Amino acid sequence: MSNVIAVVNHKGGAGKTTTAINLAAGLIRYSDVTSSCLLIDMDPHGCATSTLLGKLDGDPPARSVFDVLRRAITPHDGITTTVYDEEIHLLPSNPSLESMAKTQINDRLEKVVSALSPHYGWIIIDTPPNLGVLTQNALVAANYVLIPTPCTGLAVPAMRQLTAVIDKIKERQNTWLQLLGVLITLKDGRTPLLKNVRRELGQVFDKNDIFKTIITNNIKIEEAPANFQSIYAYDSGCLGASLYRDWIKKEFLKKHQKLEKQRLEEREAAAAELAAAMAEQLETEE
Ligand SMILES: Nc1ncnc2c1ncn2[C@@H]1O[C@H](COP(=O)(O)OP(=O)(O)OP(=O)(O)O)[C@@H](O)[C@H]1O
Ligand SMILES: [Mg+2]
Repeated sequence: MSNVIAVVNHKGGAGKTTTAINLAAGLIRYSDVTSSCLLIDMDPHGCATSTLLGKLDGDPPARSVFDVLRRAITPHDGITTTVYDEEIHLLPSNPSLESMAKTQINDRLEKVVSALSPHYGWIIIDTPPNLGVLTQNALVAANYVLIPTPCTGLAVPAMRQLTAVIDKIKERQNTWLQLLGVLITLKDGRTPLLKNVRRELGQVFDKNDIFKTIITNNIKIEEAPANFQSIYAYDSGCLGASLYRDWIKKEFLKKHQKLEKQRLEEREAAAAELAAAMAEQLETEE
């Protein structure tokens, strides 16, 4: 099962962290894959880390993904439990991650994720608002990319930049990386922008890759992290909870299942092609 999902958009305030943490909590509740999830926080600002550890300020975690990436500790030793949900573990961020962003190393997280993925049903990677090395590490390590995008105009140039980076990583380092989908977030009920945003996104992405669910602005979604809770734990009956819940149950999990099937078929076809080529080579050598 390929369950490593990078949540990416270099636009700031796009709903990445909100989606990453509510997706993690939703998968624990609504996916039947398994009940364990690891969230890796690759953003030096550590918003997901603060929410999951229940600390809005104070010292950053003593052991973090930075120590794991610089190989000072093992991946398992970097992991901590969370107050957010006992089934969700965290590889926390630390402001020192910023120093890694100045390097060219973009394949370290992949090795960490390979070591950890057998132990978790899902791994969700939250990323910073740029396309630098930290985001690239997430894209090299992931099986799928999820792109939350705010319901504001002028999405085309930014989305083209993002897909160019994804394509480059697919071409050079992670052949099997697939787009899981684009999730429109932060829709203000009063703006008539949605049609334009959909049209713009349609210029860059296949229509089937844009989720139908729209996550509207919802005060409970904003309040929940400050209470160190997922939207379902904070107020399971609110609009925000039902939007994220419906998206996960009706779209995310179905899309994931479809892509998994496709991935398996493509891998089998590639393996068969390789075996046939090797057999032919042997025959010519004999
Ligand atoms: N659906 C929503 N309704 C109301 N507020 C929201 C919603 N989604 C996100 N927010 C709020 O919008 C702000 C930005 O969201 P979030 O932190 O998830 O974006 P981000 O893409 O992770 O930002 P950054 O790029 O800075 O990491 C946060 O204050 C968050 O609580
Ligand atoms: Mg964020």
